[in-house]
Amino acid sequence: MRNIEFHNRENEIKEIRAILDSRPTLITFIYGPINSGKTELINNLMKSLPETQKVFYINLRGRFISNYDEFIKVLFDVEHEERYGRIREFLKPIVNVLPDSYSGIPIPKDMFLKLFKEKDVEDAFVYIETVLRAFCESGRAPPVLVIDELQVIGDLKVDGLLIYKLFNFFIRLTKELHLAHVFAATSDSLAIVDVYSEAMLDGRCRYLLVDDFDYETTAAFLGKYGFTDDEKSVAWEYCGGKPGCLVELICSDEKDRAAKKMLTTKVSQLKDLLDYLNYTKPRITIGEDTYMVEKEDVVSILKRFIDAECIDDEGLNRPAKHFLIKDNILFLDPDIGIIKPQSRLNLLAVRKVIANV
Ligand SMILES: Nc1ncnc2c1ncn2[C@@H]1O[C@H](COP(=O)(O)OP(=O)(O)OP(=O)(O)O)[C@@H](O)[C@H]1O
Ligand SMILES: [Mg+2]
Repeated sequence: MRNIEFHNRENEIKEIRAILDSRPTLITFIYGPINSGKTELINNLMKSLPETQKVFYINLRGRFISNYDEFIKVLFDVEHEERYGRIREFLKPIVNVLPDSYSGIPIPKDMFLKLFKEKDVEDAFVYIETVLRAFCESGRAPPVLVIDELQVIGDLKVDGLLIYKLFNFFIRLTKELHLAHVFAATSDSLAIVDVYSEAMLDGRCRYLLVDDFDYETTAAFLGKYGFTDDEKSVAWEYCGGKPGCLVELICSDEKDRAAKKMLTTKVSQLKDLLDYLNYTKPRITIGEDTYMVEKEDVVSILKRFIDAECIDDEGLNRPAKHFLIKDNILFLDPDIGIIKPQSRLNLLAVRKVIANV
């Protein structure tokens, strides 16, 4: 596997740095299509922050979270027994006793067990608030709290939707107490739409789009790995500027073949999906109601991409639209109200398959 260096993202980094340089007032939602480099950007940025600015990075992906207990386990980095001596010093002042590497919010084991037993998510939040306050009062820059892959807990209920409790907590940390910079990243554009229309968050958050690279950035990225002009053209034609996809090509010895293979896979996935719709009408819940998805509505949305790369998010059949977004074929950007395929490969596959439906 080749070692791939972090590339560009100058504008996004500038924007995040400006946020970090000011007092925390809003939650920042980092969103963008799948594999566009949200997590990579966050990780890269975290590495470049000064030692004094503490970052708590919690990645929900790959963590099995179906209830409160599991959520709490992910949120905290439980101190091991052997660190117990240091933990006694924990609250005086907290900043000096943190271990060098951790990901969740550090917590002594006994306190964790207590919170864990009482099953009250608000207790956990009070604890986190106390930790963050200790940082702020130590006179350092406000800590940074990042929750990545927020989509994992999208539907999780803990006496009501957990996500709303989290949002309320984030509002408290930013707008009300100015204790921490809060970033929440997700590739679930429907979740962002929900956030967008959520009155509770109105005026309390900002959005930062991390999209696929543009052509110049893509060409410069591939140039670093010795791509010829022809290979760059193939990469752009098949993968567009999707970093995840470009990395695959960089690692492949036969770029042309690898690109075509990726498209073949997408085409067969799409054909399979359309075939599935011949037999089933999937159910989609929007708000309180459940709707059936009709194949003809799905096809009619996809047909719009025969001559367009992106379309207006208006007048489309809503269940079919939600289905295509949930299935990661389309991406909706609520900030500008447009819908586009999740990737160039998706666009090509749609054009290939839909012409024959
Ligand atoms: N700026 C970049 N420079 C180099 N490689 C990158 C860059 N951005 C992303 N990548 C690579 O592309 C792949 C996908 O990136 P990443 O996982 O960050 O995407 P993501 O948007 O977080 O995906 P998801 O939507 O699944 O959460 C990774 O292999 C990553 O290393
Ligand atoms: Mg990610």
